[in-house]
Amino acid sequence: MLMKTDKKNKDKNKSKKKKKAPPVDFDKYLYYEKSVQNPQNELDFFNEKFSEIKGRKPLTLREDFCGTGAITCAWAAQGSEHFSYGVDLDPEPVDYGRKHHLAKLKPEDQKRVNYLLENVLTAQTPKVDIAFAFNFSYFIFKKRSELLDYFKKAKDALNDDGVFFIDLFGGPDSQTVMVDEIDHGDFKYYWECQQFNPLNNHCRFAIHFKRKGEKKVKNAFVYEWRMWVMSELKDILTEAGFSQCISYWEGEDEDGDGDGNFFVTEDAENCDAWVTYIAAVK
Ligand SMILES: C[S@@+](CC[C@H](N)C(=O)[O-])C[C@H]1O[C@@H](n2cnc3c(N)ncnc32)[C@H](O)[C@@H]1O
Repeated sequence: MLMKTDKKNKDKNKSKKKKKAPPVDFDKYLYYEKSVQNPQNELDFFNEKFSEIKGRKPLTLREDFCGTGAITCAWAAQGSEHFSYGVDLDPEPVDYGRKHHLAKLKPEDQKRVNYLLENVLTAQTPKVDIAFAFNFSYFIFKKRSELLDYFKKAKDALNDDGVFFIDLFGGPDSQTVMVDEIDHGDFKYYWECQQFNPLNNHCRFAIHFKRKGEKKVKNAFVYEWRMWVMSELKDILTEAGFSQCISYWEGEDEDGDGDGNFFVTEDAENCDAWVTYIAAVK
């Protein structure tokens, strides 16, 4: 979503010679969501994994770095006992989410959705069964002490038997300056690693889009991150006080591609690029 770096980039671009602005009808959140989000998959994942870990159904959810809050809204729409809290400090994606996701829910479901325009480090929400930070948003914390502080706050947001989920990505391709392209038919999505410093894992990634017959919209989203690895994350989560850290890995189909099913394991074969999850149990 629109991070500070996006704004900086925009300002930089202004001072350079004429860079074409995206077409006025270009809705970057629409293409972002079509490319990298599938709220139903996330709900299935949370319901399945939480039940496996805790033996009960999760009802309350806090989405940190919620952006447009598509998952926050989908969560509450599951039933009258489901409540959700989406936290993001940028009004732009939050306003978009209120208009495009919240407004589409039934009025009674809307009442159980709460957007908080706040910093994840200070936002106060009622205790929840599940807290999560997806699409690697917590990679903005580049110092170990900052990440530890955030993980402690995430733990505090949970009920006594709550679970905190994060995703992460890796593999040699993700540490190489390169562009990955996915054709969605009417538009193309590009995921570019623009910089990767192997000495501290600081990196810059960007998302570009290209609609058929139009010029590429470059740097629609830009992320300045530290790419944390599984072992570091588990150590820091443990230090933050979580009692157990469960690592998942994705199963494979006959072609060796990910099959969308994640199983618990401590041992995996590295591949060129992967995305996976950790469940940190309070
Ligand atoms: C990569 S986007 C992720 C959006 C969404 N979680 C997703 O899965 O697509 C990161 C979001 O984090 C928000 N953000 C960055 N720092 C934040 C902070 N300290 N507290 C709350 N939100 C923050 C940005 O405004 C942006 O919307």
